[in-house]
Parts: sequence; structure tokens; C-alpha cells
Amino acid sequence: MQPSKWVIEQIKHIPKAGHVLDLAAGSGRHSRFLLTLGFKVTCVDIDVTRLNDLEPATGCRIVQADLEGSSHWPFTELFSGILVTNYLHRPLFKDLMNSLCGGGVLIYETFMSGNEQYGKPRNPDFLLEEDELRNVFDGPLRIINFTQGYVEEPKPAIMQRICARKPSI
Ligand SMILES: C[S@@+](CC[C@H](N)C(=O)[O-])C[C@H]1O[C@@H](n2cnc3c(N)ncnc32)[C@H](O)[C@@H]1O
Repeated sequence: MQPSKWVIEQIKHIPKAGHVLDLAAGSGRHSRFLLTLGFKVTCVDIDVTRLNDLEPATGCRIVQADLEGSSHWPFTELFSGILVTNYLHRPLFKDLMNSLCGGGVLIYETFMSGNEQYGKPRNPDFLLEEDELRNVFDGPLRIINFTQGYVEEPKPAIMQRICARKPSI
């Protein structure tokens, strides 16, 4: 799967040469792209088997962790960017905000209610509600872009997307 075009457009908002966390990174489609741009990248996933080839790459760290387990947040450091795509576990929202440095940028893209008619996910636990990302992150973060609704690519789906910056104190 190619990196999301919308995500690629938002990457320019992340402070240059910063450290980006790719949460539930999967095969690392976005981590690989970020590495080509000179970002330092930490990928985390419960299953890192599709990331292992990245280990020797300069600037890449792979973390195996169950983000939904009892000690769910494995990081103490702050990131200049956090990227989440096609993954939703609501208890992590606060950790995402707390783990951004001042000026750091959250990029979040995943499925929302209404997607049931097009395919998986259909479980409401994995589908954002209308305006949910905006309602959660507007305030603690400053919204740069927010969209929701039907997308044609990479496959017909109902998605919600936010790009937002943590204010510098
Ligand atoms: C649909 S994939 C999305 C992968 C990637 N973000 C992307 O868009 O290409 C969802 C990912 O969440 C990971 N995941 C699911 N449950 C998890 C958990 N409890 N802790 C960490 N990762 C988890 C899966 O292993 C999988 O790689």
C-alpha cells in the first residue's frame, strides 16, 4: 500500500529533521517515506514483523508494544510529529497530545461512521464519530487542516483526517 496522499501533503507542517512517531505503523509505509525526507522515525506496532527490514536504516527505531495493554504507552520522550493512520484506540488520545513537543504536529487519518457501507472496519470501536478528532484535539492543539467524508482513493471509504499543532509555550 502506498503512503496516503493526504498524509504526504501534511508532512510539510512537521518541524524539519524532527523525530516522528508512527503509531501502529503496520508495514511502515509512512515511516519509509518520512525516512527519505530526513526525519528520525520511531515505529511502534504490536506486530513488527513487517518493519524488521527497517532496523538498519539510519534514524529508524522499531518498538514492539501492545498499545492497548496495561502499560500501553511505551514512550517518555516527546516527538515533533505523531502520525496515526487506519488505527483507533481512543484511550491513547491524551498520550498523543502529551507526547508532542511544543510546535509538534499530529497527523491523524482513519475511518469514521458511515464507512460500514463500504467495508471494514464496521465495528463502532474502530470508527470515529462525526467531528470526533476536531472535538478532541481542538483546544489543546491548533487545527491546521480537518476533513471528513467520502474518499475515492485508495478505495471508496468514509474517513476523517486532522492535522494539528501543539502550541509552543
Ligand atoms: C490497519 S493497520 C494500519 C497500519 C498503518 N498505520 C498504515 O496505515 O499502513 C493497523 C495496525 O495496528 C496494529 N495494532 C493493532 N492492535 C494493536 C495494539 N494493541 N498495539 C499496537 N499495535 C496494534 C496492527 O498490528 C496493524 O499494524
